Amino acid sequence: MSPPAASHVAIDRERSRERIARDVLTLTGSQYTRSATAVCRYAYTPEWKRAHEYFAAQLRDIGCQVWEDPVGNLVAQNVPRGERAYGLGSHCDSNRNGGPWDGPLGVALAVEVARLNREHGLDLPLRVISFLEEEGSGFGQLLLGSRIAAGRIGEAELREVRAIDDGRPFFELAAEAGHDPERFRESAATLDDLDGWIETHIEQGRVLQDERVTLGVVEAISGYVHADLYLEGRSGHAGGTPMQGRSDALAAAAEVVLEAERLAADAGHGTVATVGELDVEPGLINVIPGAVRLSLDVRGVDDEAFAGVATAIEAFAQDVARRRGVTARYVVRQAVPATPMDAPIVGALEASADAAGVTHRRMSSGAAHDTMCVAVRSPVAMLFVPCRDGISHAPEEDADPADGARASEVVLNALVRLHHRRER
Ligand code: HGY
Ligand code: MN
Ligand code: MN
Repeated sequence: MSPPAASHVAIDRERSRERIARDVLTLTGSQYTRSATAVCRYAYTPEWKRAHEYFAAQLRDIGCQVWEDPVGNLVAQNVPRGERAYGLGSHCDSNRNGGPWDGPLGVALAVEVARLNREHGLDLPLRVISFLEEEGSGFGQLLLGSRIAAGRIGEAELREVRAIDDGRPFFELAAEAGHDPERFRESAATLDDLDGWIETHIEQGRVLQDERVTLGVVEAISGYVHADLYLEGRSGHAGGTPMQGRSDALAAAAEVVLEAERLAADAGHGTVATVGELDVEPGLINVIPGAVRLSLDVRGVDDEAFAGVATAIEAFAQDVARRRGVTARYVVRQAVPATPMDAPIVGALEASADAAGVTHRRMSSGAAHDTMCVAVRSPVAMLFVPCRDGISHAPEEDADPADGARASEVVLNALVRLHHRRER
């Protein structure tokens, strides 16, 4: 039985630090990444499957039942399937130019909390989940595994999803990897019967480092719009074509990029806009660009503000197109609203951090997380640990596993508090 909420469960932090460091850094080995210079691991690749197999073995070692849902979300539970549980986890896939900690910290910490639960005889019912394709590095679709589980992507949309590498359909690659994508709707069960969910993640900013605070208790996660803008002009000889009368698709795109930056800055509420991808055709030094695709990533904690910026960028692009004699086609990839965290779980995390003697502060998340989708089905919260100089989505990404150990003690005790309340 769990101890009374007042008694704090102190853990051997050095042992937890070692185990978290071992699990996260194991996944930087060459069999877990497709790049020699960064962590690069994404949906249905052998490297991603090995990462799931690694954690599956860790979870079986502590007596969990482990399975994959029809699209490949990894699920493990220390109570029989169908029983209620508290959810913990994150993702094992990475940005294509990723670092070791974004994602795997959250899965390694969830496994560590499951170990501690067993070692301390706390009997907390736990479900550990590692979601498919959080980064969108395989199919260009952020949070794909958790959106499928949360029912946030329909069949028609899913049938349109194609691999970045070779353009093959999601359904084909998922089946080839041994999954059963035609049963994708049954992935909803991955989020059934959850009494709460906590995802631990690196901050991917530098507030905690700059303020010398150990943990960030997230209050809200920024929502986002992901879209592609296709500009079609007229290519031509760079030397023989006078400037007057050109329909230069890249010059049009350049105007849009700068306007996106201005609109986001003016919108306030922490709204941000980024053009991260730019395809130029034919992409030759002596040819006027005839066609351009640029990606748009617009985010913020205020839905109206960031959605308004996305709409204004689309309208501006149409205006530029008219002025420059090009056509503009704006296609939304996906949009997810800003997501508030559950106050009782936030409170339990703060009370546990205080009892653990760990400094903490509330903050919002600019990065998207699977937690946004889990929130469709259960109360959720997130805990941030610092990452060095705020660097993430880069091989230089670094974090201190000792902060992970502190976070595992805080998450464990927050669950004890929540469970104690539920059992009363
Ligand atoms: O892009 C994001 O917000 C997340 O890191 N995938
Ligand atoms: Mn992440
Ligand atoms: Mn990421």
